[in-house]
Amino acid sequence: MDQRPIGVFDSGLGGLTAARQLRRILPSENIIYFGDTARVPYGNRGRETLLKYARQDMRFLRSFDLKAVVIACGTISTNCLEALQSENDIPIVGVVEPAVRRAAGISRRRRVGLVATRASVNSGAYERAFRRLDPELSVHSLACPLFVPLVEEGRCQPGDIVVETVAREYLAPLLAEGIDTLVLGCTHYPLLAEVIGEIAGEDVALVDVGAEAAGACRDLLAAGDALTDRKEGSITFCTSDRAVDFQRLASLFLGEDAAGPVQQIDITGY
Ligand code: DGL
Repeated sequence: MDQRPIGVFDSGLGGLTAARQLRRILPSENIIYFGDTARVPYGNRGRETLLKYARQDMRFLRSFDLKAVVIACGTISTNCLEALQSENDIPIVGVVEPAVRRAAGISRRRRVGLVATRASVNSGAYERAFRRLDPELSVHSLACPLFVPLVEEGRCQPGDIVVETVAREYLAPLLAEGIDTLVLGCTHYPLLAEVIGEIAGEDVALVDVGAEAAGACRDLLAAGDALTDRKEGSITFCTSDRAVDFQRLASLFLGEDAAGPVQQIDITGY
């Protein structure tokens, strides 16, 4: 039994979709969420910058006494997971391996698509993980840099002509490859699941990387007998830019009322 909180971080608000899944499957756990809203987006940045940001995010989160950390950011998971794991002495779960295991497990035609940020796709981390698991799988990756700003603007509903046009254009080459499984490799994308699902059709299964990472975190804690026995957990929000901006959109990502204090911190001091 371990009553300490789980740390979750992302470049901004998108990681709240992973926190939402953690809350769903581990409602008794306390969560400390940090969103680096002052420096979002991470998805178009180079590896050195990403490493610097990731280390600062971790140092801030580790100012709390945590039992584990979930990197709810596809871009950091693909570029910095190994570095963070080697520098920290607590379990750190990224989104890549759990999502790849799920996708490889459900793909019938052995043709998988991946949509993610530019930095995630350029890292090749998903392809490497798929190759390790099943070299026979054919993987088709695509960077979709317009998805994040559209979601941040709340343009994610079916019927919104702007997001539907962008999604149709992005997805066409992947669908032409005959994929039957599509990894939504960025934590903003679950909010586009309906739009993407309608365009891709019922034949294509969608994999939510945040949900898979949440499941992996639960399995890890259960295996180490480190789940809490508290009745009800809580979530604490921290952000590097204005708290009111965080609060305005947080409920959309979290799927529940994000009421409660949001603490603004200066991440450059970590
Ligand atoms: N959270 C990032 C990810 O999952 C997307 C937003 C960004 O580019 O920072 O890759």
